[in-house]
Amino acid sequence: MSPFDTAPAKTGDTFVRHDPNFLNMVFGTDQVTPLWVADMDFAVANPIQEELLRLANRGQFSYEFNSKGVFAAISNWFKRRHNLSLDPDKFEQVPGVLTAIAMLIRELTELGDSVLMQVPAYHQFGKVISTAGRNIIKSPLRNIDGSYEMDYTDLEEKLSAPDVKAMILCNPHNPVGRVWRRDELEQLVSVANRHSVTIISDEIHSDIIYAGHRFTSMMAVDHENHVSVIGSPAKTFGMHSISNGYVYTGNEVLLERFKKTADSMYLTHGNAFTTFATIAAYENGEAWVDELLTYLEGTLAWIDQFLKEDLPAIRMSPVEGTYQIWLDCSATGLAGDDLKATLGDSGFGATPGTWFDQDATQFIRVNIAAPRADIEKAFRQFKTVLDRIAEDRAKGHVPADQKACSGASTNSCC
Ligand SMILES: Cc1ncc(COP(=O)(O)O)c(C=O)c1O
Repeated sequence: MSPFDTAPAKTGDTFVRHDPNFLNMVFGTDQVTPLWVADMDFAVANPIQEELLRLANRGQFSYEFNSKGVFAAISNWFKRRHNLSLDPDKFEQVPGVLTAIAMLIRELTELGDSVLMQVPAYHQFGKVISTAGRNIIKSPLRNIDGSYEMDYTDLEEKLSAPDVKAMILCNPHNPVGRVWRRDELEQLVSVANRHSVTIISDEIHSDIIYAGHRFTSMMAVDHENHVSVIGSPAKTFGMHSISNGYVYTGNEVLLERFKKTADSMYLTHGNAFTTFATIAAYENGEAWVDELLTYLEGTLAWIDQFLKEDLPAIRMSPVEGTYQIWLDCSATGLAGDDLKATLGDSGFGATPGTWFDQDATQFIRVNIAAPRADIEKAFRQFKTVLDRIAEDRAKGHVPADQKACSGASTNSCC
């Protein structure tokens, strides 16, 4: 029995992932195993919980900052885990990774400029670009037999437009699970450098890397000081609602500008809980992360076998990193609202692919950071409903929720 086999009890909690109002909105029912929001259904590592309890038990919440301690802990972590030397003085702390990207977009581009992102993309990237008054330019990843690659020809063309001043890179990639190799990053950097485009590298998933793959930070690539790296302990340690983000750049000019802006907005320090929980995580949470990775690999192996043996109509893209998996459901014959309705009907609380790419109507993203029993139950229920739909089709029946105006529970056109 693994500690990850049991999720903490949820009495009176208002986690978005489990919130009946959100579930009803997304799936048309709250009777789903929620595998959508990209957080974890696991208890955090003991050293983090103990540190939070220590802070709470003090009963005093005076001003208290320790950014230096945070940066030293992150820097040591990167050295140990990724063999990367990062200078603690070149970090800046911000409330979160999306805040960091939003600020960098404003630093690096002007109103009306364009920012490129590769699709499918983490759905908040589009919002962070457009709400800054910048145009979204999409470069689709190439789906080669289920595995994704960057399209350098498309990148060359789109990054050459004079109004494209920055691009967001997601490494490892949410939702397709790629961990970009050094040669791929180098090729990207050479295209970006040719067109003076700054790469904003979101590396929030950098610690969730599976056997046989290796994370390469943009900071390890010859980047002509163009690039910023952004991360946080949220994904690594399950600290989603109590983490800060950080920015790191080797570009002194950009760093100074960024620090000045962040400081002028008083954004550069977390509170005592985020600060000391972050230090505890990076200093004492390593064994927990190793156990987590082993557990996730076991879950992936189960899913892989289940899909091959019991649900061959669903195809999983190779998962190199992140706890998001990207499933191609094309062979089920379901897409868009029909697929969405089937998720609700089967209690399979995965995220529709259209959240990440309007054309990914036959895809879903599943967050596997949950007890394996929950994952198995959800996949088995999905299979039961898909089998029933296939049987009905074979008999010439079209199920009620597969008719033209499909998915009464989820379709806003009805
Ligand atoms: C790629 C990526 N970036 C950023 C975030 C959100 O980070 P934060 O909560 O620190 O803003 C997520 C969360 O799922 C993510 O997947």
